[in-house]
Amino acid sequence: MAGGSYEIVLAPGVLRQAGEELALGRRALVVTDEGVPPEYAGQVAARCKRAVCLTVAQGEESKSFDTLQLLLKTMLDAGFTRGDCVVAVGGGVVGDLSAFAASIYMRGIDFYNIPTTLLSQVDSSIGGKTAVNFHGVKNVVGSFFQPKKVLIDPDTLRTLSPRQLHAGLAEAIKMAATRDAELFALLEESRDLEADLPEIIRRSLCIKRDVVEQDPTEKGLRKVLNFGHTLGHAIEGFHQGTLYHGECVALGMLPLCSAGAGERLKRVLEKYELPTRVEQSGEELLPYILHDKKMGAEKVTAILVDEIGSFRFAELTPAELMEYWERRI
Ligand code: GLY
Repeated sequence: MAGGSYEIVLAPGVLRQAGEELALGRRALVVTDEGVPPEYAGQVAARCKRAVCLTVAQGEESKSFDTLQLLLKTMLDAGFTRGDCVVAVGGGVVGDLSAFAASIYMRGIDFYNIPTTLLSQVDSSIGGKTAVNFHGVKNVVGSFFQPKKVLIDPDTLRTLSPRQLHAGLAEAIKMAATRDAELFALLEESRDLEADLPEIIRRSLCIKRDVVEQDPTEKGLRKVLNFGHTLGHAIEGFHQGTLYHGECVALGMLPLCSAGAGERLKRVLEKYELPTRVEQSGEELLPYILHDKKMGAEKVTAILVDEIGSFRFAELTPAELMEYWERRI
């Protein structure tokens, strides 16, 4: 992986191998959240020489400066040195927050990620984006900082609700729609999602790795991973946490597809019980786009899908983006 290579281990049951897979013979801050079964972090902590466990509140509110300071203070109080490490056990919030803390504590200590949601397994756990939200703007303060190793255990997905699982699948659908027609076909045709998940995760990770290796700091190509996200973040802001991130991404992708690609995408989203329509007008969403991007009249890079498996970039003003929204199927 660009920006420092690291291993990604994808294997059912690998969580139980954390002691063999990770260098835990030192102080380790093990961070999880209240929504993650406590035994996952407990299994990791049991394999550390000196574990300090921290359980943060579930949800986006934990991606804050206050929680970041809590992580940093916990490490300071426990005498963490540059030779110690942070381990995230949970979803994207725990991963982004913990990685950011690891990236700035003593100018950077080792970070391991053990993502336990589908969203984090297919997307946020690799690629080195770390962040907290600030003054209502998502991910506006952060760094690029690569983990030392990522352990992905599909068995942990068994404890997710179907709604959480399907919301995570939206990120895999995003990768497939823009970069991998075969993966899209697998998602269309799958009759046993649980059995197909390891392959869906593997292919999604290959797409993400390929993109991030070419453009680690999102100067160009990596923006493709934001397909559906500009509109999605606006919908997320409007609905104030009642819709999951993946559900908002699902809604944000549809208006940016051609009629043919949109029909296929809509069918897949419906198959996995993801929403395909909310009634908000462009006028209602526009303030959230301007706020999210901290922008005025300048353009956003939109990702358009004319044919499943490929994409093109288009520079659109927020008003032009809203025209796409109003034309949604
Ligand atoms: N989740 C989008 C990215 O990592 O760039």
